[in-house]
Amino acid sequence: MKHIQLSFDKTLDFISAEKIAGYENEVKAANEALHNGTGKGNDFLGWLNLPSSIDEAHFRDVENTAKVLRENCEVVVVIGIGGSYLGAKAVIDALSNSFDWLQKERKNPVVLYAGQNIGEDYLYELQELLKNKKFGIISISKSGTTTEPALAFRLLKTQLEEQQGKDAAKKLIVCVTDKSKGALRTLADKEGLKSFVLEDSVGGRYSVLTPVGLLPIAVAGFDIRQLVQGAREMEKICGLETSFDENPAAQYAAVRNELYKNGKKIEILVNYHPKLHYISEWWKQLYGESEGKENKGIYPASVDFTTDLHSMGQWIQEGERTIFETVISIKEPNHTKIFPHSEENLDGLNFLAGKRVDEVNKMAELGTMIAHVDGGVPNLKIELPKLNEFYLGELIYFFEKACGISGYLLGVNPFDQPGVEAYKKNMFALLEKPGFEEETKAIKARL
Ligand code: PA5
Repeated sequence: MKHIQLSFDKTLDFISAEKIAGYENEVKAANEALHNGTGKGNDFLGWLNLPSSIDEAHFRDVENTAKVLRENCEVVVVIGIGGSYLGAKAVIDALSNSFDWLQKERKNPVVLYAGQNIGEDYLYELQELLKNKKFGIISISKSGTTTEPALAFRLLKTQLEEQQGKDAAKKLIVCVTDKSKGALRTLADKEGLKSFVLEDSVGGRYSVLTPVGLLPIAVAGFDIRQLVQGAREMEKICGLETSFDENPAAQYAAVRNELYKNGKKIEILVNYHPKLHYISEWWKQLYGESEGKENKGIYPASVDFTTDLHSMGQWIQEGERTIFETVISIKEPNHTKIFPHSEENLDGLNFLAGKRVDEVNKMAELGTMIAHVDGGVPNLKIELPKLNEFYLGELIYFFEKACGISGYLLGVNPFDQPGVEAYKKNMFALLEKPGFEEETKAIKARL
């Protein structure tokens, strides 16, 4: 069976193979700390054996819930922020037709997002679009108290009830939240809405393989069993029994930490297919929230190539040498497009006639990699044999496992996010939320 492949030979001009091999014991200890639950944040390890623990009843529950929404909605709005929407959007975008929203003959509802910002125009325009549309809502919040999704949920739930009537609306709303705490749980139970429990032990950014991701992905018409199957394979491959040399998560964690120690403070995730844009957004959240603390951590950035070669390409080639790149490469695209011959050849492109467009893309990828390495930018590569549910499942688990190991190598707790609270406190103080009277006084005195 083929799997996703990590290669890091194009980092070896910058860090030595011996140094990387030297991480073996440290990485083993980090992996053991994850599996034995002896490391920092050990009450948030529910994601670790999650793929292999999903049972048939759970798949059916998610699929049946998705079926109700699929059969009754033209549009399903996923409400959530951070880990409560990025994984679903990453997978759905990666698997969808790039022009999905323009398809007339639809088999699947259009999946849209809300609660990931507080843009008034965004919400106004979304609500205008939903007028007279048959729509449903998946409201996702682990804590059930996050302001952005709560605000969007109140607006959209009210609209849905006005358009459909209260009883009909109930069948079109699904909540994913804590089992007992939070406003969303209270509301779901009080109103008898269908809900899924998000276990305490799974943090938001590690939750894509729970109903947080699986439900929207199933609504969009994709095979969640294959996604989980891919993650199961990676769970085995990245397990304790695998040697350092065979464990891609262990190696990725070691290489990026060694690069970091050698002054490479920024990791840029690169793709050559625009539908992978949100894979990078999901990855940035996973690594940024997990590692950026205690004044440490690689800054996770991303670019879409070849598009951004015409903007950020200059900086990457010749700017400050504090970066390395990790390229996500798709070996075999899902479609074939052959470049045509032209009698006149006015554009001078007949040297490409008969070649696949992907061959041009691959040469751009290879040429860029060589140029960037020559320019002082170490490159790693993660190759997916194809872009499908199975390999995306492998990729997701690979990144999650590597993030846990990498966080432990860095010496931080990869499962908390204390820094996210600072803006919330100020926002509530400025909005004069009850309970924040002292903070309101203090912040207003600073204005
Ligand atoms: O990874 C995380 O924990 C965060 O990004 C959360 O997912 C995000 O803040 C949303 O939180 P909640 O699901 O509680 O609304």
